[in-house]
Amino acid sequence: MASDVQARVAAIRRNFFSLRKINCLASYIGSGQTVILQPIPPFRCVSMLQVQGVFKSYATAQGPLAVLRGADLQLDQGGSLALMGESGSGKSTLLHLVAGLDSVDKGSIEVAGQRLDQMNEAQLANWRRTEIGLVFQQFNLIGSLKVEDNLAFQARLAGRYQPEWQAELTERLGLGALLKRYPEQLSGGQQQRVAIGRALASRPALLLADEPTGNLDEATSDEVLQLLLDLLADSTTSLLMVTHSPRVAARLQRQAVLHLGRLVSEGGR
Ligand SMILES: Nc1ncnc2c1ncn2[C@@H]1O[C@H](COP(=O)(O)OP(=O)(O)O)[C@@H](O)[C@H]1O
Ligand SMILES: [Mg+2]
Repeated sequence: MASDVQARVAAIRRNFFSLRKINCLASYIGSGQTVILQPIPPFRCVSMLQVQGVFKSYATAQGPLAVLRGADLQLDQGGSLALMGESGSGKSTLLHLVAGLDSVDKGSIEVAGQRLDQMNEAQLANWRRTEIGLVFQQFNLIGSLKVEDNLAFQARLAGRYQPEWQAELTERLGLGALLKRYPEQLSGGQQQRVAIGRALASRPALLLADEPTGNLDEATSDEVLQLLLDLLADSTTSLLMVTHSPRVAARLQRQAVLHLGRLVSEGGR
């Protein structure tokens, strides 16, 4: 096997990826070279999310509206995918389905090897509560709770509150001086940093972000996105992010566009 490939892989290992993620790189490097990237025990490349042939329609006064028509999507553990597409193309619909907030008409969604449609109510509730983190364009913080309690909210609900991790998140998101404030006393960028902290506090398997930078100016958007990507780089949490910004999308590992109810892969690195 060519030594320049080995050198390339070594450089990538050194510079870009934590050890946890390196094994998932094989699929991006291309066939023929993947032998270089045999899994390093105990780490493995794990498919986190597998969406296959998903159809979803809504009943409307004008009859059924077919939104998803055979959507396929795959995301590795620790991987990130930017989901783009015109307004109304079904991006939020897809996120809701993956979050287990709604069910597919046809097709399957598999998370960590288990099909969502075959989970019972308790398993589904557990999936939503413990393994999904949600971040929205409108921040959706709880107005009556201080920043510190907003941050801890989901982790407490999930029974996964860890003071040390909470303290680290607070520090890395630059929220230390804001803990006693209420959401209305924060800027948009600060609110979104709290929302990100809240979503990651339970260490979810999957972070779903629906246009998280849509309400932020460009500089703030860059800053918040960088904080998020830095946090994810040190974790096994996978990211599925809806964005209208090609600039934001390009920062994620892969990009896909939802068009006519299907996903068209745009590329990746
Ligand atoms: N609960 C619903 N009932 C009826 N139509 C819906 C519902 N939710 C979404 N839609 C419609 O489905 C289409 C896709 O919506 P959505 O997934 O929110 O798109 P996007 O997030 O890409 O803008 C839109 O035409 C929207 O009006
Ligand atoms: Mg939407």
